Amino acid sequence: MADSTEQPGVAVKRVLIGATGSVASIKVPLLARHIIQQGHEQNLQIEIAIAASTSALHFFRREQLPETSVTLYTDKDEWSQWKKIGDPVLHIELRKWADICVVAPLDANTMAKVANGFCDNLLTCVLRAWDMKKPRVVCPAMNPMMWEHPITSTQVAQLKSLGFKVVSPVAKGLACGDVGMGAMAEPEEIAKAVVDELVSSIDH
Ligand SMILES: Cc1cc2nc3c(=O)[nH]c(=O)nc-3n(C[C@H](O)[C@H](O)[C@H](O)COP(=O)(O)O)c2cc1C
Repeated sequence: MADSTEQPGVAVKRVLIGATGSVASIKVPLLARHIIQQGHEQNLQIEIAIAASTSALHFFRREQLPETSVTLYTDKDEWSQWKKIGDPVLHIELRKWADICVVAPLDANTMAKVANGFCDNLLTCVLRAWDMKKPRVVCPAMNPMMWEHPITSTQVAQLKSLGFKVVSPVAKGLACGDVGMGAMAEPEEIAKAVVDELVSSIDH
């Protein structure tokens, strides 16, 4: 986890991006850049950690991420970093480190897990252990038929009741060829939602 020294007039803020197995994870590197840039415009120095599910890793590569200020963690790191009692537990360390978590994209599988409290990988363990005083944002991304399935609205309502801000998906042609509601919101809009939350946490 990156840990910068605060410059005068510039607040350091730590963002955890959760990435899941939606094709929209191809936009994770772009999202990281937008959050850093929009944070900079608000006098925030942004540090980013990415907790990627194993499926998410099919859609972007470590080399595509900004070289500084971004650290990628995978499910393997959770167990390779823990050998014995007393060693740091990565999902707890990330929960303590982060000022905010944004899950972008939130796929249907992880949506179901988080809405129901399941925690079987790095990202869902961080979210299950989350400090409820810290903000959390989710950005669903799925096929239109998945989005329109009745279980989705039940789970979205459950996430909202748990204090998640939901950045709604948009309608467009998807990578699978289907057209309709379910594509992840644009990275610029997601970055704005994250930076707005960080700015308001400073104001209050
Ligand atoms: C090419 C491809 C694209 C996928 N895109 C999506 C998607 O946009 N949304 C979604 O909910 N699932 C999508 N899936 C299915 C998920 O990857 C799958 O449910 C996986 O188990 C999710 O695991 P995770 O939630 O741990 O990341 C896709 C699968 C493949 C093979």
